[in-house]
Amino acid sequence: MDKELHQQNGDGQVRQGDTARQEDSGTAERFSRSGFIFAAIGSSVGLGNMWKFPYITGQYGGAAFFLLFTICLLLIGLPVLMAELTVGRGGRGSASSSLVRLSGRKIWGGFGVLSIAGAFFITSFYTVVAGWTLHYAVLTSANALGKGTDFAATFFSFIGGWWPVAWQAAVMLITGWIVVRGASGIEKFNRILIPALLVILIIIMIRVLQLPGASEGVSFFLKPDFGKLTNESLLVALGHAFFSLSLGMGTMMTYGAYVDRRQSLGAATLAVGGGDLMYALLAGMIIFPTTFAFGIEPAQGPGLAFIGLPAAFSAMPLGWLFGGLFFVLLAIAALTSVVSLLEVPVAYAMERWRLSRSTATVSTTVLCFLFGLPSALSVGGAVGWLHWEGKSFFDWVDFIASNIILPLGGLMVTLFVGYAWKHAAQEAGLTAGWFRLWLFLLRYVAPVLIVLVFLHTSGIWSF
Ligand code: TRP
Repeated sequence: MDKELHQQNGDGQVRQGDTARQEDSGTAERFSRSGFIFAAIGSSVGLGNMWKFPYITGQYGGAAFFLLFTICLLLIGLPVLMAELTVGRGGRGSASSSLVRLSGRKIWGGFGVLSIAGAFFITSFYTVVAGWTLHYAVLTSANALGKGTDFAATFFSFIGGWWPVAWQAAVMLITGWIVVRGASGIEKFNRILIPALLVILIIIMIRVLQLPGASEGVSFFLKPDFGKLTNESLLVALGHAFFSLSLGMGTMMTYGAYVDRRQSLGAATLAVGGGDLMYALLAGMIIFPTTFAFGIEPAQGPGLAFIGLPAAFSAMPLGWLFGGLFFVLLAIAALTSVVSLLEVPVAYAMERWRLSRSTATVSTTVLCFLFGLPSALSVGGAVGWLHWEGKSFFDWVDFIASNIILPLGGLMVTLFVGYAWKHAAQEAGLTAGWFRLWLFLLRYVAPVLIVLVFLHTSGIWSF
């Protein structure tokens, strides 16, 4: 999508062949500097921050989990983000061909296959939730959820029916339509949307902090109690650092390919990481005060944002306006993330099987939709019986993609930049001190932590 984006909005600078490496089949499209930052934040900020982060924080240990997540984001997420952007800019190709081009070895192309699997899995359940968001945007702005509503019952009867499938189809159609047409204006869209979302979130936060009982929620979110951590907490925190920063399946590599050589990747990494953390913090500071004020169970899983927030909106003056605005913005934030997810398999299919963009988009969209059906229907719906070990089909797809495929993808990137690629220093453009820190994290800290977390969670080694 980004190719068209830049031809159409014209503010990316197209500078062909300014270094030897980007001549051949590499892309010649460029993001403008601020446009790139907004596009990258737009991809990373989405349902991961506002829907998933609060509910896994509720399930896996509250403030202690938030602390683990922040540590994973800083020590592993940021170095991997920087690595993906650097590889993308160095290789100027898709997630798979950039790695092959930079290393000269075909074996690294396996990343393409892994990233497709990851993108497929994530898109299939992500679009289900994006659909819920659209439904709630309509409900709240139509003021259909008044004060006396039983918000939990409303949510469960909605996800237990067939409507989620229709909304998911709508999300897939909109995304497919954007990807096939080349997403003109997504960059500009993000430029307005991301700050608008920030303002709305701050207003809502100020309001919910005044609810009676809100302070209990704040301590749940910010006062760590390590006894609340579970066996899986660390793995989930690690997986979510990857998920939230859009890492581990080539999105940021694809974006890196469109970045101008003069742009500082270090500064971009800090901006995206800081932005992502800020939206997660705001989301937590809204959801937990609300859930505690309304006596809603914080560990109840995927429904948290859809039960807690409408309850808060109904209790505030002009709630339908704020609520409607919030869910519309959230739906759009989700869509910009879905576009960046879908683009990965589409770009790969075009490159690998020489398909046209429209054929690649239509087939990928249809396949993702079909694969998403059981997810849409397994959270209480027609296939609600699809449960193993306390997790629904939906939870399993999320668990496998976020906590297994994404960290594995991240591991490959760290090993690639840490050990296999000899010219990372040149491309990264960091000062000597920062470069040494980055390389140290990529070589020793990130891979070791990723492997340890895996061994631990799989039960091979308990510590
Ligand atoms: N980061 C997005 C969010 O938090 C989701 C997302 C977009 C993603 N692209 C990705 C997750 C690539 C993993 C990989 O909502």
